[in-house]
Amino acid sequence: MPTVTLLPSGLVVEVPNGTMLFDAACRAGLPVASSCSAEAVCGKCVMKIHLGAEKLSAITEHERKLLARDHRHPSDRISCMVRVLGDCAVSTSYW
Ligand code: FES
Repeated sequence: MPTVTLLPSGLVVEVPNGTMLFDAACRAGLPVASSCSAEAVCGKCVMKIHLGAEKLSAITEHERKLLARDHRHPSDRISCMVRVLGDCAVSTSYW
């Protein structure tokens, strides 16, 4: 099973392949900002990918539009739209 490292704490959570990144962080007990209940609308669940970007599901046009709408860095990801397919390390601005 893939592992997700949550920075800066270094907390590691193991998740089944295909788990949403949003759910992986919640499983680890960390809060994830959201005002849309992970329905891919608000964009608040954005995460910075430090390692393993290539181990995440491909970005969709909808996700790309959300990132652009909120002036996010193009390499950030909307965690409720991303499936974990391998080991990665991520952070938010509030952990
Ligand atoms: S929780 Fe709203 S877009 Fe992810």
